[in-house]
Amino acid sequence: MSTTTELHEIAVKMVSGGKGILAADESSPTLSKRFEKLGIESTEESRRTWREMLFTTPSLSSYISGTILFDETFNQSFSSGQSFPEALTSLGILPGIKVDTGAKELQGFPGETVTEGLDGLGARLEKYREKGARFAKWRAVINIGDKTPSRTALVANAHALARYAKLCQQNDIVPIVEPEVLMNGFHTIEESFRATRAALLSTFEQLALFDVVLSEMVLKPSMVISGDKCEVQATEEEVANNSVECYRQCVPAAVAGIALLSGGQPDALATSHLNKMNSLHKDLPWPITFSYGRGLQDEAMRTWGGDKNNFNSAQAALFKHAQANFKAACGEL
Ligand code: 13P
Repeated sequence: MSTTTELHEIAVKMVSGGKGILAADESSPTLSKRFEKLGIESTEESRRTWREMLFTTPSLSSYISGTILFDETFNQSFSSGQSFPEALTSLGILPGIKVDTGAKELQGFPGETVTEGLDGLGARLEKYREKGARFAKWRAVINIGDKTPSRTALVANAHALARYAKLCQQNDIVPIVEPEVLMNGFHTIEESFRATRAALLSTFEQLALFDVVLSEMVLKPSMVISGDKCEVQATEEEVANNSVECYRQCVPAAVAGIALLSGGQPDALATSHLNKMNSLHKDLPWPITFSYGRGLQDEAMRTWGGDKNNFNSAQAALFKHAQANFKAACGEL
């Protein structure tokens, strides 16, 4: 067993000095959909190749502290024969693993979901830890609609997040706790603020109930942002100020750090928002950095297009976005 201090050190390493996390944990169906849109064939081997290409980007570890893997990738190997978690560790990138099994319909609450995956989770975490995982991720999905989020959905999702986080810490794994309020919809930034605040407050209430050690976890929230179909789009400054204010109201100072998700925003905008948060707010109790999926990978995937002749330029695209987000996390873009 590691000491609690070791978990804290890992959590701090994940979020400090401007470094952030590359979320490459799309499930195979989700990644297949993204490949299909670009005419890339999706097979076990093409998904493996894509991820090996991302992770072998020269000097990626200058900006990326860790990466989240999906189970398929976690059990695959680099072309050298080294397993993904081992190869990442030798590249100086902490390997993480997505352990939830997805957001499923919350019975009796139309339009809302609860994330599943708690059954057998302790045993799965133990195996992942043995194979090199140092952190894990669980994503709860909160929908803003006319009558949602309901208190029921908020509590059900927060409860699952807290049980997951507790199991992680018991298995020497740092939990990334991700209550994502979706940006899809017509809602205003004020409605996003209220829903995000409610989701975070529920989450921290349940984390306290389960005695989760806050200094040994990373929070991965969504930004407070106008719905993508809202007629009035908040400015970058409004997004930064509302997000930081919301986190200040809800996130205890003991949390090791905040690593934001990009949530489908255009990549440059996700970077700008992060930069504004850090350039306008200097006295924060926790680092605010990135744990982007699409925000880091979109341009690299388009550039690669499934063709190995494009490896170098695709890696250059990933490097460019990792570097820009690193600067943004320092508030120095
Ligand atoms: P996006 O940054 O693309 O939202 O992905 C982050 C993530 O891990 C979602 O669970």
